[in-house]
Formats: sequence, C-alpha cells, structure tokens
Amino acid sequence: MSDKKASNQMWGGRFASGPAAVMEAINASIGFDRKLYAQDIRGSIAHSEMLAKTGIISAADQEKIADGLTTILKEIEAGKFEFSTRLEDIHMNVEARLAEMIGPAAGRLHTARSRNDQVAVDFRLWVKDEFFRVTEALKGLMAAFVERAEEHAATVMPGFTHLQTAQPVTFGHHCLAYVEMFARDLSRVRDAIERMDESPLGAAALAGTGFPIDRHMTARALGFREPTRNSLDSVSDRDYALEFLSVAAITATHLSRLAEEIVIWSTPQFGFVRLSDSYSTGSSIMPQKKNPDAAELVRAKTGRVNGHLIGLLTVMKGLPLTYSKDMQEDKEAVFDAAETLDLMLAAMTGMVRDLTVNAAAMKKAAGSGYATATDLADWLVRSLGMPFREAHHVTGRAVALAEANKVGLEKLSLEDLRSIHAGITEDIFSVLSVHNSVKSRESFGGTAPSQVRRQVRYWKKRLAKA
Ligand code: ARG
Repeated sequence: MSDKKASNQMWGGRFASGPAAVMEAINASIGFDRKLYAQDIRGSIAHSEMLAKTGIISAADQEKIADGLTTILKEIEAGKFEFSTRLEDIHMNVEARLAEMIGPAAGRLHTARSRNDQVAVDFRLWVKDEFFRVTEALKGLMAAFVERAEEHAATVMPGFTHLQTAQPVTFGHHCLAYVEMFARDLSRVRDAIERMDESPLGAAALAGTGFPIDRHMTARALGFREPTRNSLDSVSDRDYALEFLSVAAITATHLSRLAEEIVIWSTPQFGFVRLSDSYSTGSSIMPQKKNPDAAELVRAKTGRVNGHLIGLLTVMKGLPLTYSKDMQEDKEAVFDAAETLDLMLAAMTGMVRDLTVNAAAMKKAAGSGYATATDLADWLVRSLGMPFREAHHVTGRAVALAEANKVGLEKLSLEDLRSIHAGITEDIFSVLSVHNSVKSRESFGGTAPSQVRRQVRYWKKRLAKA
C-alpha cells in the first residue's frame, strides 16, 4: 500500500492527500461495523422519507435514494457487496455505493444529518434488537428451569452455605432460585429498553440543524417511542451500550454460578447430576473421563463479557461532550458480548434440559453432615419451649455425640438423646429425616415441595404472559 492516496471522497474537500496506510488501518471500522448494515439502511430510508415529506429534498430524489438503498441491502445480503477499508465505515461504504448507483441524488441523503447521529441511531437499533433476542433466550431458560422444578419439587438434596452441607432443600427449590435470578435479568433488560427507546436521529453533528426536519416522524418510523431531547447528549450518549453490557455481565455472572454448580455436581465425588454425551467431552488420555466442557466454557466466557463492560466504561470515562472517535470502540465490545451471551444462554438452556438428576445420591448427601441439626433445635424450641440459643447448644452436643459414635443424628438412640436433655421424647425422630425436614419448611418461599409447586404455578402463569 502506498502512503499517498487520493483524499477521501466524503470529507476530502480540504485535504490535499489521503491517509497514511496505518492511519487508514487505525481509523477504519468497516471490519466490524458492517454488522450494522441493515440498521444503517433502515435509518437512511426513514431519514430520506422525512426529508421528502418536509420538502427538504424532492420526492423524485427520495425515490431514487430509497430504491438504491433497497438494492444495496440486497447486495449485502447476497454477499455481493464490496466493502472497502478506504471508505472507513458502514455509513460511507453504503453512501459511496449509492452515489455509484444513482449519481448526485445520493449526495442529498446526508442533508440535516451527520455520521454522529447516524451511528448513534444505527447502534441503538442494533442494541434494541439484541435486547429482544436476550429476552427470548432468558424466557426459554426460565421455562426449562420451571419444568425441572416441577419434576423435582420433592427431590431432596443438601442445601449449602460456604459449600458446607447446611440444611436439606429440594432440587426444585434450587432450580427456582435460578428462575428468580433470570427473571431479574429479564426485568433489567426491559428497564434498559424503556430508557433507550428514543431516537437520536436529527441531532446531526451535535447541535441540531437549521433544516425544518421532523424528528418525531423518523423516531416513529424507526420504532422508537420518541426523539431524544438534547442534541449534545444524543451524539455522545452510549449508556444503552453500557447498560447492555451491564445486563450481559450480570446475566453471565448468574450463568457462571450455575455452570460452577454443574461442574461440582457432575464430579464423581458429588454425582448429583449427569450430562449426556451431547453435553460432555472425553479425555484423549484418560478413557474413564467425561468432562463438563460446556459448563466450564460458560463459566470462562463470563470473564470475557465482564471484561467488555469494564472496557467500554474505561473508553467512555474520559470523554468530553460530545462525540469523540474513541466511541467507535463501543461496537466490538457489544457485538462480542452479545454473541457470547447468546451462545452461553443457548448452551445453558440445553444443559438444564439435558441433565439427569441422581435423586438417590442427592438424598444420601442431604442426610449426611448432620443437615437436620436445625430441625432438632427447632423441635426443642417448639416441643419443650426452650429458647433457641439454648436449643442450639443442646443440639451441638447431640451432633458431637453422633460424630463420636460415627452415626447420623437420626441413628442416635432415644437414650443417647435423653442423656443430653431429659425432656426429649420419641417424637423427635419425626423431624430428623431429611424428608420431614424439607416438608416442614412451608413458610412462603420456603423449600417444602408444597411451596415449590406453588411457585411453579406462579412462574408458569408469568411466563405465559411474558
Ligand atoms: N465509524 C464512526 C463510529 O463508529 C462513525 C461516526 C464518525 N463520526 C465522525 N465524526 N468521525 O463512531
């Protein structure tokens, strides 16, 4: 490549020569912003219609422009469009081709507009579409979990704190915990859409325009609720991209915690779940192995998504109003985070549907580690009127005795228990089984199968409406 080139046909009026090769390389965004082609063309057609309606351009020119843009859309979709780095970005690539096709009328399209509001409107449209894709994917994942919850409303497993056995819970309840998390993600998506649903088109370079444009018309045509209210903010705002990345990072973080649980649960040591061959890989050297690679990769890709959020926050943090070229760096972060998140959501939904639950292993683990110790303490409170703190102490002694005898709490004899506290009766054994433990936790939002079924009904109704 030679360093001297003809000056740019879009803005080269005051330039004697073209950019150095490395300038072109650092400046061009066409390598990635070509992804915005459909939004760019949609925005341009809406803009041209408005220009014609307000008498800024003629109807004949508008028709040529719209026809040309429609043809370009088809060319791009058919893979017949030649993108050029020299033309920097998607906006100038499309416009240059339009000029080639329809001649001088193409030059009228950019009246009362700048690439600054053009890229802002294109990118908003793209992010909004992606928010809708994420909405659907989240709903699919939630539905998968609700089904598993219904199926396992009464399947007992250990509940953990500090990854130490805490109290028995039901697997259905555990599944619904994730439904809650993804529902919050979904509501964050909806909030974000609500805030970003404004069209920046017509803010022009930064100050608005002297042409009698109708920004309400273009906002409506592009499916936005209304136009933005401040031209400076319109071209310098990337909150919608940051909010997308924030939502993506939080969602990815939820997916990663789930991935981590699947990795732990599928070890031979836990053996709580098994992924089928469709979601596992083997080892090239250890024939016995089945690895949860998909879950591990969901966990790992979270780092990438979270990194994009920090990346764009850092790009934006030092920028004075309004537009700076720094902002061109917004796109790769969002595109990659979106593609990554879509894949993570699809893989996780697949795994949730795929995994086989080993109820026997879960139940066995639920009964180990003195998981019903709290139930014992609660019994002392309920049946003997003991203050909870004292009951905690008495129970601690029962656990110590069971540990010394190497048995579970429910295997201690009544005599043993009475040696710790004389008031204990046979009835205590009714709470020492894991089954009775979970069944008793019927407080609203508790782990009892009856509560799980109640919440399953709630989520089914909500998802049907969502
Ligand atoms: N490719 C640019 C971007 O993505 C488009 C806006 C260019 N505006 C400008 N004043 N150079 O940000």
